[in-house]
Parts: sequence; C-alpha cells; structure tokens
Amino acid sequence: MAGIADFVRPHLRAVRPYVPGKPIAELRRELGVGPDMRIVKLASNENTAGTSPLAKQAILEQLDRLWLYPEDSVFYLKRRLAEDHGVPPEWIVVGNGAVEVIYLLAQALLDPGDKAIMGRPGFMIYPIMAQMYAAEAVQVEHPEHRHDLRAMAAAIDERTKIVWIDNPNNPAGTYLSRREIEWFLGEVDGRAIVVLDEAYHHFVDHPDPCDGLRYVREGVPNVVVLRTFSKIVGLAGLRVGYGVMHPELARVLGSLRVKFSVNALAQAAALAALDDHEHIRRAREQVIAGRRFFEEHTRRLGLSMPPTQGNFAWIDFGRDARPICEALMREGVIVRPGWIFGFPDHARVSISNEDDNRFFFDRLERVLARLG
Ligand SMILES: Cc1ncc(COP(=O)(O)O)c(C=O)c1O
Repeated sequence: MAGIADFVRPHLRAVRPYVPGKPIAELRRELGVGPDMRIVKLASNENTAGTSPLAKQAILEQLDRLWLYPEDSVFYLKRRLAEDHGVPPEWIVVGNGAVEVIYLLAQALLDPGDKAIMGRPGFMIYPIMAQMYAAEAVQVEHPEHRHDLRAMAAAIDERTKIVWIDNPNNPAGTYLSRREIEWFLGEVDGRAIVVLDEAYHHFVDHPDPCDGLRYVREGVPNVVVLRTFSKIVGLAGLRVGYGVMHPELARVLGSLRVKFSVNALAQAAALAALDDHEHIRRAREQVIAGRRFFEEHTRRLGLSMPPTQGNFAWIDFGRDARPICEALMREGVIVRPGWIFGFPDHARVSISNEDDNRFFFDRLERVLARLG
C-alpha cells in the first residue's frame, strides 16, 4: 500500500500550519499550575476589555433556540452592516471570522502558478493560502516593517491575482495612510484584487486614516475590505467577521461558503455589539492609552518597537528573543514569538489594560535582568 501521505495532493504535503497563540489552559497544563498562578495571555491580540455586555445579553436570549439552524443568509447582521456602510447587503460576505473570508477569496481567485503579493512580516495566513492553492506567495520585505507599496506595486504581473494589505500590519502594527493607499490603488489600476484587511481598524487614531470601505462604496471594483468582530467588540471566541466587495465576487464567495458557518450566537451577538458604543469607546481608549505605555516602557528598557496603530506591539530585542519568550511564559506571560513570522529577534505582544501591561513589563524586566 502507498504511504498515507501519497494520497494527499502533492502541493499540500508541505503546507506550514498556522501557529496560534498558546491558550492559557495549555500553559497551565504544561507548567502544572492551577488557577492560583496568574497567567496573562498577550499572544493573540484579543480585546482584554472583554466582550460587549450587549452581545452577552443577546447570546443569553438565543440559548433557548439553539436547536434551530441559524439563518444561513445572516440576514439581519448583513442588513445592518449594509446600512452602516452604505452598500447593498449583496456586497457583504459574513464568515466564521474574517479568516473564513480570506480562505474564500483564495479559493475563488488562486489557480496553480498564480501570484499573491503580501508584506513580510505580515499576517501568517496569507502565505498559507498561496501554498494551499499551489500559487506563489510573493513576500515583499518592508523597510522599517512598513509596507513597501512601491515594491509591492512593482511586483504585480499578469499572474498576480491578489495583493493582501493588512492595515494596520500584523505583526508590526505599522499603518498606511489614506494618501498612501490611494496612490497604491492608482498604481495597481485594477490589475489585481487588493484586499485591505482592516481587522484592527477601530483602534486607529492616525491623522490621515484610511477607511477602505469608501473605495468599495465608490465602486472601485478590485478592492475588498475585511473587518472582524474578534477585536474591537471582543467576540474572538464566537468567530464572526466579514468582507465587503464587488457583488459579483461576493456572489461567488457566497456559493463557496461552508453552510451555516456563522452560528446563531455569533449572528445575534455581533448584531447587538454594533450598538454597544460605550464598550467600543472603552476598548479603543484602553488600547490607545496602552500604546503610549508600551512605547514609554519599551524605550525605558532600551528596546525598540515601530509606532503601532493596532492593539499590539512588535518589540525588537536586538538579539534572539526565543529564550526571552520562553522565560516570560514560565513567569505567566504568553506572548507571540517573532520567529514564527521569520523574525527571531522580535516578539509580538498584545496591548491590554494597565494592570496587565504593568505585569508584562515587570516580568520582562525581571527576565532581562536574569538572562543578562
Ligand atoms: C490582520 C488580520 N486579519 C484577519 C484576522 C482574523 O480575524 P478573525 O478572528 O475575524 O478571523 C486577524 C486576526 O488576528 C488579523 O490579525
């Protein structure tokens, strides 16, 4: 009999798995510690201001109806998003997290040998998508860990189908202004689908912010905008995100979707969270204050980080950060080591509330003193 791997499509045998942030429960098991040891997870850019209280209420109201399938059309949430964004509901694809929409875009657009362009470092899912469809992931280096739009535009050729732009960039947190994005869209000139992945959009306080939805609304056909409920409203655990795009593309993605991928609790919670202005304001303020705290304390410890517009910091330790990340873990702080993005001297650390942020810098200082 052939080896089991021989049944697998050849280009899939080497797909690198996505490395998620380590869950708190897993670290507890590894360290053999109970709830008395404080563990703070700063590894997945979650919203530590918590879940919107209005969303929690909406979830409770759904509990007696869980024997029913959800509405596969995601009718009410789509209708509301359409009103908020000034586009028809047919232009919106809601997914099991924005990640589902990323998968659908890759599935709909990439043939073997096609190219997908992305920044390096960048969101780790993008190169995996290219591998999955035997396409080429063109990872354009960013000087200063900021997208090099000139180089990205120059990399586009007739095989290019997608340009992924995570704005803010994950993991670096760096940001492209409206002026820069408009220049880029002019250069691309419709030659590829440009995905503006705005997962962290609500945390941005840049003087020239870019709201990619305006281009979709204005009818620029090759722009897709991604948003998520995982970050600003704290619903990462329920999985709901969406893309706004040209209706012809939305129709294709809609036909590829896993049926019922957006569950009933997620639909109800996301809809309610949109009205929770107080929670959104608090979450945003926490992150903006936390960013200042991180900049100040990173500098104090003689380290550096690029200016971030996300709810995370990309800290450059100027030496192999692996032992630092491992030691932090033993001290009860889970961060995302930079080596998984191909940058072993870095770590990505989510920005949390003041108490967690202080805990992180306290433990970091201790670890750095110990490691010398
Ligand atoms: C840039 C970027 N895009 C998309 C996502 C996925 O979001 P979701 O949780 O909605 O799948 C993330 C999550 O971390 C992200 O960092």
